[in-house]
Parts: sequence; structure tokens; C-alpha cells
Amino acid sequence: MASSYKKIYKATAVSPANIAFIKFWGKKNPKRNIPFNDSISMNLSNCITTTTVEFNPRFRSDRVILDGRELKDEKKFRVLKMIDLVREKSNIPWGVKVESKNNFPSDAGIASSASGFSALALSASVAAGLNLSLKELSILARFGSGSASRSVIDGFAQWNKGKNSNSSYAIQIAPPEHWDVRDIVVVVEAEKKKKSSTEGHTVAPKNPFFTVRQKLLSKRIRNIKNALLKKNFKKFGELLEEEAIELHIIAMTSKPPIFYWNKGTIEVINKVREIREKGILAYFTMDAGPNVHVICIAKDAKILNRKLRRIPEILFTIINKPSVGTHLLKKHLF
Ligand code: DP6
Repeated sequence: MASSYKKIYKATAVSPANIAFIKFWGKKNPKRNIPFNDSISMNLSNCITTTTVEFNPRFRSDRVILDGRELKDEKKFRVLKMIDLVREKSNIPWGVKVESKNNFPSDAGIASSASGFSALALSASVAAGLNLSLKELSILARFGSGSASRSVIDGFAQWNKGKNSNSSYAIQIAPPEHWDVRDIVVVVEAEKKKKSSTEGHTVAPKNPFFTVRQKLLSKRIRNIKNALLKKNFKKFGELLEEEAIELHIIAMTSKPPIFYWNKGTIEVINKVREIREKGILAYFTMDAGPNVHVICIAKDAKILNRKLRRIPEILFTIINKPSVGTHLLKKHLF
């Protein structure tokens, strides 16, 4: 007992954002974040969240600090919902302090919720003394944000929709070193997005085109996974763009319609198509935001990046390699 009294209930985790090659769009069970379809992604080496969690009997209230600002809104509520799950599992009733830092702009369609909730799942569970398996960690992260379930995996991941909460989690398709590709995140807007992906998930299943999408998906998932495993970049890229356009068509034709693209998004799409005609293989995809992820082979990243940065609408770019998933760090943020 004396030793457990002295024990420090504190842990820090680092986690990458991920880019979805096949998108999670529409929740079968919104409370538990169970999706209608499987999704596939790659973790991003340069879009990282670091989170420290401490449980302490001396903390009188729960505090959540993101990028130096104390949260008071819906976001704090979402964080504390996951903290409560961890408290329940570990029987720790104490107050908590959560501090988190992104190395990229939050809420700009670079999936800060994926890196954020996966980092939170690992740091909170370890701080509370839980020793979760990778499957359990993916499920816990999923409760915070669906796409976070994929960030815990090293490299390329597939989140299988499953039949219930216990079977809806991500597994590895291939490790980071499997394929030397790059994701150039082309940032055309760094402000908070107007429509959250959560709102998009809510309206999507009522869209008549959603049923058509679900029918097309199983073949596309099979084919893109095959292209990824065989490193057939052209085939992979064609499917990637088809999938991205389809997601945004669903968003744009939902009621009310959601337009994530802006002028810069279109400029980048046009530039990628133009560059491709000149012989450099590059393909675009966008998650729930205006920023464009340009996927290319490693050797082409530098020249592509240079060409893309000449577009006037571009604020900055972030070049990512395939990355390892969520892991612990010895150094804490506080
Ligand atoms: C377009 O995982 O952000 O990026 O569970 O409501 O937090 P919540 O949704 P979220 O949705 C991601 C949507 C997407 C596609 C994807 O990442 O699969």
C-alpha cells in the first residue's frame, strides 16, 4: 500500500495523425463510433500530438490544456468522456490534468482528433496503471474519435468495422518501411473548420448516394489494399482519387450540404493533374477539410513540393513519411 501511495499516476504518449486512403464516413452506432464501412490509412511522421495525463488525489477539478490554452467547451467534454472510461476501468476516482500539444494546426483537416485521442488513450490508460493490448487501445481510441483507432497501429492500418464494439478496431496491413511513399500535406487554410466531421457523419447515411457508395466500397477496399501490398502506385493512386472525390460528393449532396473545398483546394487538384500529365506520378486526397494530401513516391517529393509551393493560395506544406503508431515517451509535458 505504501508503495502504491507513492506511485506517480502520470504518463506521456506521442501519436501521429493519419491520412485515410479509404474513408470512414457515416456511423452505424454514433455513441460508440462504429462505422458503416472498413477504412484504410497511413500514419504521418510529421503531424504529431504529444499528451501527458496525470491522475492525482490532490487535483480538485479536471483540467484539459491544449496548445497552452485551457479548454472549457465541447472539446473538454469529449476528452473527459474518455478519461471517465479509463477511471471506470481502473477504479481510479481522482482528478486529472491533461496537457496536449500538436505540432500542426488543429481542426484544419489534418485529423488532429485522430492523433489527439490516440495519444490520450495510451497516456491515460498507462497513467491509470492499465496495461491494454493493441486491440483494446484501438477500441478505446475509437471511442474518442473513430479515425483515432487507426493511429495506434504502426504504418498502414485497416479499421475493420466489426459487428459490435469489441470487434471494431484497427489492425496493421503493412509496417512503415513497407513502402517509401510521401504525403505532402498542402495547407490552404489553417483555421478551425466550419463543419466538423462528426456533423458530416450524421447527415451522410440519409443521403441517397450513400447506399451506392456502400455497394462500391468492398471492391475498392480489396483493390486498394492489393495495390498497396504490391506497391502498384498508379493503380493505388487512381483508387485513392476516386475514393476522395466520392467522399466529397457525398458531403456536398448531403442535407444540409457540406462544402469542404475552397479555391486553394481546386488549384492544388488542378496542379497535381497537370504535373501528372508531365510524367510525375502524384495523386490527391482530402479528409474533412480543404487541405490536400498529395501522395507520391519518395524520390519525387522534393520537386513536387517545390512546384506545389508556387501556388499562391498555399500557406505551407508538411512532408510526411509513413510512421510508427502511438507510443510512450519518458519526458512529460508538465
Ligand atoms: C473524412 O474520426 O474525425 O477524416 O469519430 O466524429 O471524431 P469522429 O470522426 P473522425 O472522422 C474522420 C473522417 C475522415 C475520414 C477518415 O479519417 O477515415
